[in-house]
Amino acid sequence: MTHSFFLFFPQQQLTWPLMLAVGTAVIGSLQFGYNTGVINAPQNIIEAFYNKTWNDRYGEIISKTTMTSLWSLSVAIFSVGGIVGSFSVGLFVNRFGRRNSMLMANVLAFIASALMGFSKMGASWEMLIIGRFVVGLYSGLSTGFVPMYVGEVAPTALRGALGTLHQLGIVIGILMAQIFGMDVIMGNENTWPFLLGFTFIPALLQCCLLPFCPESPRFLLIIRNEENKAKSVLKKLRGTTDVAADMQEMKEESRQMMREKKVTIPELFRSPLYRQPIAVAIMLQLSQQLSGINAVFYYSTKIFEKAGVKQPVYATIGAGVVNTAFTVVSLFVVERAGRRSLHLLGLLGMAGSAVLMTIALALLEKYDWMSYISIVAVFGFVAFFEIGPGPIPWFIVAELFSQGPRPSAFAVAGFCNWTANFIVGMCFQYVEELCGPYVFIIFTIFLLGFFIFTYFKVPETKGRTFDEISAGFRQAASAAEKHSPEELNSLGADSQL
Ligand code: GLC
Repeated sequence: MTHSFFLFFPQQQLTWPLMLAVGTAVIGSLQFGYNTGVINAPQNIIEAFYNKTWNDRYGEIISKTTMTSLWSLSVAIFSVGGIVGSFSVGLFVNRFGRRNSMLMANVLAFIASALMGFSKMGASWEMLIIGRFVVGLYSGLSTGFVPMYVGEVAPTALRGALGTLHQLGIVIGILMAQIFGMDVIMGNENTWPFLLGFTFIPALLQCCLLPFCPESPRFLLIIRNEENKAKSVLKKLRGTTDVAADMQEMKEESRQMMREKKVTIPELFRSPLYRQPIAVAIMLQLSQQLSGINAVFYYSTKIFEKAGVKQPVYATIGAGVVNTAFTVVSLFVVERAGRRSLHLLGLLGMAGSAVLMTIALALLEKYDWMSYISIVAVFGFVAFFEIGPGPIPWFIVAELFSQGPRPSAFAVAGFCNWTANFIVGMCFQYVEELCGPYVFIIFTIFLLGFFIFTYFKVPETKGRTFDEISAGFRQAASAAEKHSPEELNSLGADSQL
């Protein structure tokens, strides 16, 4: 793959230090994906452990409702950790730097791994649940740290492709968890604690590699004002001594930041300068989660079971494979096709797949072979997700904001993403009970709504420097002061940018 990667992307820009930096950072993404997928396959086995522990403690069998609540809590508390973690990103990145923040966060991964890995030995489901919360905290922080760091070390022409590696890390993590979770590997009564404790290994690897990675040159120059350090880091990352253009661009961003200072979260919403980019960032995060993708990744086995698929676990792994394959596709096309068109295509394709899924589920009673159509529909749903709505929202936040508002914007975007993730994870099964085969229609409606929003409001950011992008929004905002809101709407943000 490295070979074809070099063919596709400008060779002189894709240096070893850059690949090491990005590759090490996305271990954090892998942890997030792994812990998203890990709880799916071994559900019955871990429930049996809950049951036994309950029985030993209280001398009675756990009731079905208590078990359901305990299990939902074990699944969803991960996203509660994610909400808190992603919202706290701003507390770390400017104080400790991007790289050191990633390094520090690993303490959480170690704690979580110990809590979950020893929960069986300690006969305590509480340890497992707290562990899920702590690894959620880590994952929430990672969804801020990683795209920010990657966006800041990448050269403009590779920002989209390298940004997509965050998503690739996530999907590989999910796939690993699905495979390790098979009962012949670790998803069985004896070895499930290893399955959950596995988080320890990527954390250790990241701790060993991070000291060899450079700090973000943007952080060094713009926040720390350490010009020489920033320059030497850039030389390493770019593999050339001529980094004048990059330095120039960063200084421009820095000058801009002097003018705008650090921007707090309320200011993001109040200032006409940021109102549109923050609306775009939030809507893109919501489009990622309310597309219903995690209904598939949390509950695919159940969905396939209900759709009459004979071996649902294999279909789930199939979805993981398609998911990974299409993230790779996105990686190669994102710098050519652009973010906006890929996001639009992805949303529309997902809506089509959701309709197909509904048809398959509704006609299942009449035609047995509809179960195959449901597999096609889920695979299509996942494939289109990875074309755009999967990777793009994560890295576009770094592109939409300059240094001043960037940390606050990441906090808001992460918070919205994880909250929507939590809502889908918690509610899907209940809504499915209510709507039966028509549950995917709800996602179709959301998807079409997000398609319309993206079409009218999301600008193309491909190939533009951070400064050019925010200059585009500044122009749009000053046009807003001169024009009435109606006039501005008809101008459309993309024509401004
Ligand atoms: C995105 C989402 C995550 C989801 C994954 C699926 O990264 O943020 O919630 O599980 O894609 O590939």
